[in-house]
Amino acid sequence: MSDRLSQSPGRPPAPLGANPTGLADQPVLGTHPRQRAWVEVSEAAISANVRALRRSIAPGCQLMAVVKADGYGHGAVPVARAAAAAGASCFGVATLGEGLELRQAGFHEPVLVLGNLTQPEELRNCLQAELMPTISTMREALLCQNLASGSGRPMAVHLKVDTGMTRLGADWQDGPGLAAAISELESIRLAGIYSHLAHADAPMGQDSDKDGDLSRLQLQRYESVLGEVQNQNLAAGCRHLANSAGTLRSPNLHFDLVRVGLALYGHRPAAHLGGAITLLPAMRVRARVSLLREVPAGVGVSYGHRFITQRASRLAVVGIGYADGVPRLLSGRLSVLHRGRLLPQVGAITMDQMVIDVTDDPDLELGATVTLLGGEDDSDARIGPESWSEACGTIPWEILCGFKHRLPRLRAEG
Ligand SMILES: Cc1ncc(COP(=O)(O)O)c(C=O)c1O
Repeated sequence: MSDRLSQSPGRPPAPLGANPTGLADQPVLGTHPRQRAWVEVSEAAISANVRALRRSIAPGCQLMAVVKADGYGHGAVPVARAAAAAGASCFGVATLGEGLELRQAGFHEPVLVLGNLTQPEELRNCLQAELMPTISTMREALLCQNLASGSGRPMAVHLKVDTGMTRLGADWQDGPGLAAAISELESIRLAGIYSHLAHADAPMGQDSDKDGDLSRLQLQRYESVLGEVQNQNLAAGCRHLANSAGTLRSPNLHFDLVRVGLALYGHRPAAHLGGAITLLPAMRVRARVSLLREVPAGVGVSYGHRFITQRASRLAVVGIGYADGVPRLLSGRLSVLHRGRLLPQVGAITMDQMVIDVTDDPDLELGATVTLLGGEDDSDARIGPESWSEACGTIPWEILCGFKHRLPRLRAEG
């Protein structure tokens, strides 16, 4: 089976990561998927990243592919497929629906729901689909016990302890007691104890709170929880602490498993992390020129005329806008690639379109493909999500997750 675009416009391929709800397919109905704007996803890059990351961790340490938020916008199913093929042993999702999507797609690997499931109905679905919930309180543990007792098999759960993130998880001081209480529940299996780092992308060696480096403090607290659990002769199950930044920062943070999101998709959480590892960006965002205009100097472009041409200009209208996930904040601050040349976007980015100044690229034709994020096949130039996130004061995670399903997800060729 091939997801590649056939050259015949009459035979569009199935979009990658088609959502079981069918929503992912709707945007391309009636039109060729590469007609307007689209996202290309390289499964080969995902697999290569998993292999590179696995080489950087101890042989016995597992890699969890974090595929929440539809695989950070890449499509959870193709990402999970590529990650598992390269040796990821389990998946992390945020919601019940994301876990169910993986099960419906036929994945049998362990899946940990990293978000909080509080309702009995959600936990029942979790049990039925053999998804592992995160437990932060005794209330959730008792709900799981009630649901699982009588089902004939224990429900595997992971206990989360908060060591400094101050989000999900039991207070780390309460962790050992909670682990002991959970271990008393005969229908529950404590499959893991984990925590989450709040600032593992901080510059190395820099103090980030009054007690010293925050990751070091979180590590101490986490180890203290594990030590007390061991002193009670309880099995902690799988121990895990590191996200991408923790994974790239220090082997001391790896334990039995690392939970990798951003790096899986080919991006570093901070420039100083993971320099020794080659990561390949898996996403490319492209769009087609739908109209070319010749205008004189002094013409205002797009809403509010935020840009006035300073010379006789050639302008290209490209069919992608903020409703597709290109932040409007980037208006006049992004460039697109065409055959190795960076061309400036001008005027306000609108809901569905933007205007590019192509005066310096006389060869660009109607229907040409421009690259907004990622690289081109015939040049070394590349635009990373970091350049967008820096320009609009956010983080690469938000840029990647921001692309809407109106953009078909297609398998990258080659
Ligand atoms: C609990 C947990 N673990 C791991 C990750 C993966 O993080 P990253 O994308 O920084 O690797 C996340 C993502 O936010 C998370 O919430």
